[in-house]
Amino acid sequence: MLNCAVLGATGYTGVELTKLLLVHPNVRVSVLTTRQEKPIALREVLPSVPKNVSLEIVPYSFDEVKKKAEVVFLCLPHTEAMATADQFLNAGKVVIDLSADFRLKDPKAYPEWYSAEHTFPERLKQAVYGLPEVNRAKIKKASLIANPGCYPTGPSLALIPLLKKKLIDPDSVIINAASGVSGAGKKLVTATHFCEVDGNYNAYKVNTHQHIPEIEQSLSEAAGRKVTVMFIPHLLPVSRGILATIYATTTSKATEAKLRGALESAYAKDPFVRVLAEGQFPSLKDVRNTNFCDIGLSVDRRTGRVVLFSAIDNLVKGAAGQAVQNMNIRFGLPEEAGLL
Ligand SMILES: NC(=O)c1ccc[n+]([C@@H]2O[C@H](COP(=O)([O-])OP(=O)(O)OC[C@H]3O[C@@H](n4cnc5c(N)ncnc54)[C@H](OP(=O)(O)O)[C@@H]3O)[C@@H](O)[C@H]2O)c1
Repeated sequence: MLNCAVLGATGYTGVELTKLLLVHPNVRVSVLTTRQEKPIALREVLPSVPKNVSLEIVPYSFDEVKKKAEVVFLCLPHTEAMATADQFLNAGKVVIDLSADFRLKDPKAYPEWYSAEHTFPERLKQAVYGLPEVNRAKIKKASLIANPGCYPTGPSLALIPLLKKKLIDPDSVIINAASGVSGAGKKLVTATHFCEVDGNYNAYKVNTHQHIPEIEQSLSEAAGRKVTVMFIPHLLPVSRGILATIYATTTSKATEAKLRGALESAYAKDPFVRVLAEGQFPSLKDVRNTNFCDIGLSVDRRTGRVVLFSAIDNLVKGAAGQAVQNMNIRFGLPEEAGLL
């Protein structure tokens, strides 16, 4: 059994991850931590926990985690994971970080997009971006896995195969994505109060969202040149799920069949990416509480553009599920273990 620690276990991703790890056949949840001073019964934040599980979320102690866990999941706000990851890497642990702290290769991007200097820039070279369908071979050997952001996951999976095969113009990509409210985490902010969200739908962080450089980094790698995208996030009045609608101009020979074929062959062996048939389009209810990413597309012959759709559950394929998938790959477990 693989011993796991979850730091930030009271938050949305921490709770989701704990839920998945508790039913995983190959792991033991050996320690759950909080910044708070007193232990919290897991049942208080995860009421569905079975009666015979008496786990507690305990005040954080580096030594305790080091003693009890081989793999350390960081479910902490961004900038909070930098030093913690460094400490556990020095202690020889495998670190899977759900924050953005190790996703970007360029340290200069952190002050620009996250308003903070990176305090361990040398670790950025070592970090492997944990998008399993693209980086599986590197994840197998990684000690620091930077789990992708919730918004970047779906659009990256939809666009990477098409950019690799030069079926779309890299300069033409526009992404509109709508996320459920849990994407903002558990902390209280006015914009996510029930009365603000209920019955509403609005764009936010227009052209300034911190996931823009992460999306561009992945797409640039696939295209073999710098890609700049327009990315507009929206807040959807549901608790979880992200639907992205993505527009791009097709290159001259790219038919819908060719585009769908490129996606189907890229993901033929991937258990969690489903490319939908002609005329079918993803919906949140089909991916909710699952680790699936559903992708659909249609080419508009009049405008020469393709519209792609990707749907994920932000807390599962966009966070905790993908983290478990990465752990499975890293430790040679079946990739679907604990996830299907
Ligand atoms: N929500 C999503 O859909 C999603 C998806 C992908 C990635 N992520 C990333 O995953 C990380 C965790 O996200 P989340 O949604 O789980 O956040 P969250 O609900 O706000 O939970 C974060 C937890 O971290 C702990 N924490 C430790 N230091 C903290 C500090 N200085 N300030 C505030 N909290 C602190 C808190 O627990 P205690 O108070 O008990 O210590 C809190 O419950 C973030 O970096 C986020 O960007 C989130």
